[in-house]
Amino acid sequence: MIKKGIILAGGMGTRMSPITKAVNKQLLPVYDKPLIFYPLSILMLAKIKDILIIVNKGQLEQYKKIIPNGERFGIKISYLEQDKPRGLPDAFILGKNFIKKDNVAMILGDNFFYGQSLSKILNHCVNIKSGAKVILHKVINPENFGVAIVKGKKITRIKEKPKKFMSNLAITGLYFFDNKVLNFAKKLKPSKRNELEIVDLLNNYKKNNNLSAEFLGRGGAWLDTGSIEDFYKTTNFVSAIENQQGFKIACLEEIALNNKWIKKKDILKAIKFYGNCDYSKYLKKIIS
Ligand code: TTP
Repeated sequence: MIKKGIILAGGMGTRMSPITKAVNKQLLPVYDKPLIFYPLSILMLAKIKDILIIVNKGQLEQYKKIIPNGERFGIKISYLEQDKPRGLPDAFILGKNFIKKDNVAMILGDNFFYGQSLSKILNHCVNIKSGAKVILHKVINPENFGVAIVKGKKITRIKEKPKKFMSNLAITGLYFFDNKVLNFAKKLKPSKRNELEIVDLLNNYKKNNNLSAEFLGRGGAWLDTGSIEDFYKTTNFVSAIENQQGFKIACLEEIALNNKWIKKKDILKAIKFYGNCDYSKYLKKIIS
């Protein structure tokens, strides 16, 4: 059972400049809450209570204003700073003392997941005992993603941004690893673009026939909010679902309450913290 998770929430956000010049992408609003709430909600839905958030050097205080620690959600949240974006596997080099001897999940701070059977899929993922697991999702522009070829749930081939079509299954930004990830990450060499590459890390598992997949399927949505266009697409998606159905996506206190990690009195405290806003009104509704 994987009980620890990392959110990689640094990065330059170059594609979203000038908006990201002063504020980190993950603190920008996706409809009615900061982007960081969404990946955090996914780890909480996976029943992960021990979470490390990696942020850019110099931006820690901004994050702490909205998420000082995990108390509001009945979980443990710690922070680490990354001094420059060295690549996704850097999470396992920086996070070594957090991971210790355990297995670990990692989610990119700018990835949005939504789907009917998401909790069930997450439950499969956190149950891995050895190897690595990724979540795959069909896309129409596979040349922009890391993609995988599968045989059942086994991944037989992966490639970063293939120029020639080989698969339309994109590797999403949510990964589950056994403890060997520490050793594999340590040995990685930077690529041509001078970053440690997640595909190289995953290839270590693939070579050992130990890389498997879960599928989000047709009922699921995965949005990578890296560009302005995708960012607004995600905002529109959240607003459509929330206003149509009357529930919120990624209301962290609601997930914590459902998981029995907090009580009604904690929700009241959260309402005080947020002040008079729609999010608070929603919190009031769920405890009334
Ligand atoms: P990217 O989308 O690769 O990078 P970015 O967010 O900085 O955007 P851009 O390409 O426009 O400059 O990163 C994916 C996620 O991982 C994003 O949430 C930022 C985070 N990240 C880190 O925290 N540290 C890193 O070293 C890298 C490469 C990314």
